[in-house]
Amino acid sequence: MSRLQLEDLTLARGGRTVLEHLEGRFQDGAVTALVGANGAGKSTLISAIMGMLRPVAGRVACQVPKERRAWLPQQLALDLTFPMSVEELIMTGTWPSHGALKGYCAAHYRRGREIMARLGISHLAHRQLGELSGGQRQRALIGRTLMQEAELLLLDEPFANVDVETVDVLMEVLRDMARDGATLVVVLHDLEQLSRLADDMLVLAGGHGRWASPESLLERYAGQPPRAPRLPLTFPDTLDAGTA
Ligand SMILES: Nc1ncnc2c1ncn2[C@@H]1O[C@H](COP(=O)(O)OP(=O)(O)OP(=O)(O)O)[C@@H](O)[C@H]1O
Ligand SMILES: [Mg+2]
Repeated sequence: MSRLQLEDLTLARGGRTVLEHLEGRFQDGAVTALVGANGAGKSTLISAIMGMLRPVAGRVACQVPKERRAWLPQQLALDLTFPMSVEELIMTGTWPSHGALKGYCAAHYRRGREIMARLGISHLAHRQLGELSGGQRQRALIGRTLMQEAELLLLDEPFANVDVETVDVLMEVLRDMARDGATLVVVLHDLEQLSRLADDMLVLAGGHGRWASPESLLERYAGQPPRAPRLPLTFPDTLDAGTA
């Protein structure tokens, strides 16, 4: 069973084909790593899954309702000059299902506080977004997706410029979301992060996609200097035989 499936999906950007004939199911209740070189099409695929980019051919079959889909873009489009506190940002997670104009009830506020505590940002509740560090902002944004009760979460390089402690906190929260049944797709460039987070993996290269187990990559790099390799930029030989 899968709530998210790619069916002979072909995507283009600026008139040029970026990805062709992508097939396959993302597992529910699991984290799938999206892996590939710069320009391989990871963000393009994420846009298509969010419904923001129309396929040239094929389709994304997604059974998750729009109000339960969340996306953390690679480049934050958030206006940081807009006066909004961390708590206010987290509360906006109720908007997709509850509406923006109805205000919040006591239960919403209670959940918001629980979420901030879990992410270690209670002390930042009244801090303005423009006054946050990158890692603090990332915690707040993931807090909003928890508030939203996202069932599909697309994270485009969520750990870029984030310190190790924040990575630990965020990974634990993401693993919990998967355990609670959410479908997570995470763009990663780091082998160590892949080994800790991912259950499954879709590698993009040369305009095509290959599904593989994260273990197949980890085994391939076993014995190499610790933490050295970033993820491979082409399909590893061991994956070439895999079906698309
Ligand atoms: N708005 C756009 N207009 C035209 N071409 C684009 C646009 N956005 C991306 N592209 C092209 O589409 C291809 C895939 O880009 P994409 O951003 O999906 O790559 P990526 O795998 O996310 O790379 P990175 O690791 O650098 O984030 C690239 O060749 C890129 O130049
Ligand atoms: Mg990208």
